[in-house]
Amino acid sequence: MADEQAPLLSVQGLEMRFGERLIQKDVSFDIERGTIFAVMGASGSGKSTLLKHLIGLLCPAAGKVVYHGEDYWAAGEEQRAGLRAGFGVLFQSAALWSSMNVLDNVLLPLERLGRIEDEGARRDRAMEVLSWVGMADFAQYMPSDLSGGMKKRAGLARAVVAEPPLLFLDEPSAGLDPIASRRLDDLVLSIRERSGCAVVLVTHELPSIFAIADDSVFFDSETKVPIAHGKPSELRDTATHPTVHAFLHRENPDPVDTSPATPAASKAASDT
Ligand SMILES: Nc1ncnc2c1ncn2[C@@H]1O[C@H](COP(=O)(O)OP(=O)(O)OP(=O)(O)O)[C@@H](O)[C@H]1O
Ligand SMILES: [Mg+2]
Repeated sequence: MADEQAPLLSVQGLEMRFGERLIQKDVSFDIERGTIFAVMGASGSGKSTLLKHLIGLLCPAAGKVVYHGEDYWAAGEEQRAGLRAGFGVLFQSAALWSSMNVLDNVLLPLERLGRIEDEGARRDRAMEVLSWVGMADFAQYMPSDLSGGMKKRAGLARAVVAEPPLLFLDEPSAGLDPIASRRLDDLVLSIRERSGCAVVLVTHELPSIFAIADDSVFFDSETKVPIAHGKPSELRDTATHPTVHAFLHRENPDPVDTSPATPAASKAASDT
């Protein structure tokens, strides 16, 4: 049974494997409503794998993923589908449907969930969210005609359009220039403000981590266990583990948007 007093999401002793191969174990943390929670660690340490466990795409080798006190994998398929309906997800690749224009991509969650009956009202809502992310003028564009940053923003619009209580963002600003990156941070903050959602954010970007994350976990790829947990700015000042210290004190190289831009998209490149 859902327990409104319980944390929104509680990860308890999670162990993640692909067959015999251990990715991470002993992963435990709680996420409360309205929190932005960062998942940090080296490439290959298991951050995207964690996200896939949190949204029910992968089943844990051990431990639990608990929503509102309800163990995801102990619940029936109907309850699990109900929980999944409350997730908004931006995958690492943005993963827009290439055969649909931006507007139709953003309409998908509204159509799937059937929350807004009227077709015109669904379009209005989709256009409203596209305007939040600065993409209203590109609603009719196909994903192949968008720059990397525009794809990310369209993906973000699709992830938030149905006002999910939980938003999962896998490297939303990877590959963007610093200005676009900061703009995305502001967007995530304003979406949290508007909807009160909690956000699980996988990112390597230190400015983002320090600017918007309230809490975090750090995966170690050597020992395959989390080696730090807490507010990133506090970890920066207190963490003694050399890997965490080096990560949080490193010079952050400027991310660069290397995605190919079409003439139409490059017109708006300053907007990404
Ligand atoms: N479907 C899969 N089958 C087998 N191994 C996988 C699968 N998906 C990921 N892995 C492995 O799990 C490990 C963790 O991958 P994951 O994508 O979670 O890392 P990550 O921390 O997100 O890295 P990055 O920062 O590069 O995105 C990697 O070694 C990867 O090769
Ligand atoms: Mg990843």
